[in-house]
Amino acid sequence: MTTRTALLRTGAATALAALSLTALPQAAVADPGTTPPGLAKQDTLRWNAPKDFHIGSAVAGGGHHTTADYPEPFPSDPRYRSVLAAEFSSLTPENQMKWEFVHPEPGVYDFGPADDIVDFAEANGQVVRGHTLFWHSQNPDWLENGDYTPEELRAILKDHVHTVVGRYAGRIQQWEVANEIFDDSGQLRTQDNIWLRELGPSIIGDVFRWAHEADPEAKLFFNDYNVEGTNAKADAYYALIQDLLAQGVPVHGFGMQTHLGLQYGFDGRMQANLQRFDDLGLETAVTEMDVRGPVGADGRMSEELRQKQAEWFRSALSACLAVEDCNSFTVWGALDEHSWVPNTFPGYGDALTMEGDYERKPAYYALQRTLAEAGPGGAARLAHHPALRR
Ligand code: XIL
Repeated sequence: MTTRTALLRTGAATALAALSLTALPQAAVADPGTTPPGLAKQDTLRWNAPKDFHIGSAVAGGGHHTTADYPEPFPSDPRYRSVLAAEFSSLTPENQMKWEFVHPEPGVYDFGPADDIVDFAEANGQVVRGHTLFWHSQNPDWLENGDYTPEELRAILKDHVHTVVGRYAGRIQQWEVANEIFDDSGQLRTQDNIWLRELGPSIIGDVFRWAHEADPEAKLFFNDYNVEGTNAKADAYYALIQDLLAQGVPVHGFGMQTHLGLQYGFDGRMQANLQRFDDLGLETAVTEMDVRGPVGADGRMSEELRQKQAEWFRSALSACLAVEDCNSFTVWGALDEHSWVPNTFPGYGDALTMEGDYERKPAYYALQRTLAEAGPGGAARLAHHPALRR
């Protein structure tokens, strides 16, 4: 494991700190339309992130977007693309690498949208998180309702993993190989996950081995929700991963989705929980963060709740920054209008960090400030950078 201290979390921060302080931008808000490009660049999340730390977003497309009243954002909206490129250093396809999307018919792969995301990321100096290979949800009908023998299913899965992971070999930083395999009581989903139901738990190790064969460079992750605090589900992952590592299975990381609801509470054990997975020699990540609250007819929560939401984003990011190999923090979308939350949790929303015409919410500034503070000279930079002072 690499040794990393807060002092090593530098990079963009150091470059900015090296400038004469009087030369630092005085504009209160860097509007990409009017601010000189250099200054606008400094007023983003990715500019303020420590060098070896990735701040990411889901790339909107597929899933609930297909029935929304706007065209697919990523292929069609230049403003959206420019914000993704400017603000984030990591991208996760929100749906475009899921089975139903990428493998719509037996033996037929559709890589167009996923290719576009990976190409875009490379052109903009961003890394990509692959999402996902082994899940109980968003599988195509031909698979879920097919009449396959266990041997056939095993061959289908192996071909899928080799084909999809192989296609992007060397271009994916972290793969969320297995998604949501435990329920909240810490039991394997042996009914709703087709692979666990038909092939048994030993298939988990095989999927990681196949992914590793196809891309030896990608870091291979488990990923789930409701695992931020220490609870039965997080404990189940902790035990399973130890078991797999003892067998030599190539598991490299544990991702906490971090879909939070303000009606529940922020589990203050998040940092300690990340730390115990780190102590196993794993990388960790926050992979899909949003914080939903009850909203009115305008889709917004109260200002008081927005402040609380900002505080939760700050707490989760701080927990990750404090853990040595927590390298990546992703929000599940850039803009509230694209978020999956109102569709999935009626009456709730306002869950991301930007709204409307990319106006920044308190949660945005909480992230930006927390990233800036994590680098050396953070406090001094903040004092001379009005846009970060909020
Ligand atoms: C969601 C997408 O955001 C929606 O567009 C889609 O309709 C359903 O899936 N956990 C995950 C993500 O791992 O893949 C889910 O994404 C949100 C919950």
